[in-house]
Amino acid sequence: MDELGLNKLFAGILVASLLLMTGVKLAEVLVPHSELEQNAYVIEVPEGGAVAAAAPADKGPEPIMALLASADAVAGLKLAKKCTACHVFDKGGANKVGPALWNVVNADKGVVEGFGYSNALVEFGGEWDYVALNAFLAKPKAYISGTKMNFAGLKKPQDRANMIAYLRQQADSPAALPTDEQIAAESGS
Ligand code: HEC
Repeated sequence: MDELGLNKLFAGILVASLLLMTGVKLAEVLVPHSELEQNAYVIEVPEGGAVAAAAPADKGPEPIMALLASADAVAGLKLAKKCTACHVFDKGGANKVGPALWNVVNADKGVVEGFGYSNALVEFGGEWDYVALNAFLAKPKAYISGTKMNFAGLKKPQDRANMIAYLRQQADSPAALPTDEQIAAESGS
């Protein structure tokens, strides 16, 4: 190849690379980089899902009537140690910080002789049936706001069932166990 030929070759390469650079620049202008507005993969996060499931609305204590027939009154007697600072459970027992609790299942509320009840409890009224005892023992102050029973409550449904089974036995004639209808009504089914 002579000198002229070589020059032509170099000129050609030069023009070609100029064209290439212009092409790249042009492409950048025509197709600008743009930030994706959204992740290409959208990860669905349910709104407050997990939090809502962990904190259900306060619907009162879990039902216990279905547990009563097989509840353990001896376990209830052990639980009663939480109560004996304030209550006596034996027949003829004296009132202490709280009223004596013989014959309490299905008794009227606030009628133990010689005990000075809170107005809150007396005004609340009604009987200590299984539903009332379950609610009261779960969280006394939530059930009767203003009661003077200073006790946090028995959180576990099985504990309340055992406690109530024991209370039921502390009577001249134990109250009848709940019927199937009462059990169904309590659990709302
Ligand atoms: C710190 C003392 C204290 C403890 C502990 C306590 N109570 Fe009471 N309880 C009371 C007082 C005081 C009252 C009366 C409440 C009022 O007048 O508002 C009461 C009332 C009651 C009543 C209603 C009685 C009625 O005649 O109307 C029941 C039932 C009862 N308690 C059961 C229990 C059981 C079961 C436990 C244990 C799991 C317990 N209490 C633990 C102090 C206590």
